[in-house]
Amino acid sequence: MKPGTFATVFSQRETVKGHFLMTVKAPASFREAIPGQFIMVRLEGSTPPFLSRPFSIYSIYSQGNDTFVEIFYKVVGKGTLAFSRLQEGDALNILGPLGRGFDIPPSCKKIVLIAGGIGVAPLSFLAQHCGEDTRGTEIICYLGAGSLETVAGLDRLEKICSAVEISTDDGSRGYHGPVTGLFKRDMGLYPEDTTWIYSCGPRPMLRGLQKLLKDQPCVCQVSLEERMACGIGACLGCVVSLRPDGAEGSLVRVCKEGPVFDIRDVEFGE
Ligand SMILES: Cc1cc2nc3c(=O)[nH]c(=O)nc-3n(C[C@H](O)[C@H](O)[C@H](O)COP(=O)(O)OP(=O)(O)OC[C@H]3O[C@@H](n4cnc5c(N)ncnc54)[C@H](O)[C@@H]3O)c2cc1C
Ligand code: FES
Repeated sequence: MKPGTFATVFSQRETVKGHFLMTVKAPASFREAIPGQFIMVRLEGSTPPFLSRPFSIYSIYSQGNDTFVEIFYKVVGKGTLAFSRLQEGDALNILGPLGRGFDIPPSCKKIVLIAGGIGVAPLSFLAQHCGEDTRGTEIICYLGAGSLETVAGLDRLEKICSAVEISTDDGSRGYHGPVTGLFKRDMGLYPEDTTWIYSCGPRPMLRGLQKLLKDQPCVCQVSLEERMACGIGACLGCVVSLRPDGAEGSLVRVCKEGPVFDIRDVEFGE
């Protein structure tokens, strides 16, 4: 396995309940990263967990000669809990940028982002990237969360997007129900030939979106967040099944051939 690179935590803060924004000082090579790519992160030295964890790149920026990578993550287990305790100056090992990112539309009028929970991370980077475009592309985001307290990534999206529509599972903010239900309400507003849709979130949400778009010809790319061990195509721990007409064949490694795929190619199961 590739060794990765030494990096240090520049800053870290909890933004909404259980969600942390960590800024890491990284090598200059990270400047080339494109939205949808990810990094593998592990603690330096002999501190558990020993295996790296994959995270989308939330943003990249430079100050003078320094390059900074932001990751935005939710604490779900021992690895993310250990990361949440890191402080400025603590050491990390990072590997990346990895995988295939989103295709950037050459000339589309509307970009629709559909994010479920922490799936907002790669989509926010994409919004930032496309927002710098001067061709007048309109970006609309549908952001789903469990409840009011866990609507993640909103401040940044509100600065970039023309509209951010929110849904919560418990109805405590915005539309009451799944984010796919909210998107379904507005689907007719988006011309099929000039709209590109991008999504990231839990599997049931992506499966629901796939069903919604079954008869729509518009482009829709999704970033999959499978469990990963190596992140570089060596362990086959992240294999998913594509539909028989999928361009990459029937079984693919999310870390190598993805994590971004055409939503119509992915076999989400029932
Ligand atoms: C390409 C990619 C990009 C990702 N980007 C982000 C991101 O930007 N922000 C973020 O918060 N998370 C992201 N994830 C998910 C993140 O990698 C996992 O949440 C993390 O590895 C969990 O580590 P842990 O040690 O805390 O959890 P563990 O102790 O390993 O597991 C705790 C619980 O979380 C579940 N779990 C672990 N990994 C996943 C997963 N990948 N999908 C669903 N459930 C999982 C386990 O089944 C278990 O129930 C991404 C995953 C991939 C593959
Ligand atoms: S995580 Fe090892 S092959 Fe993808």
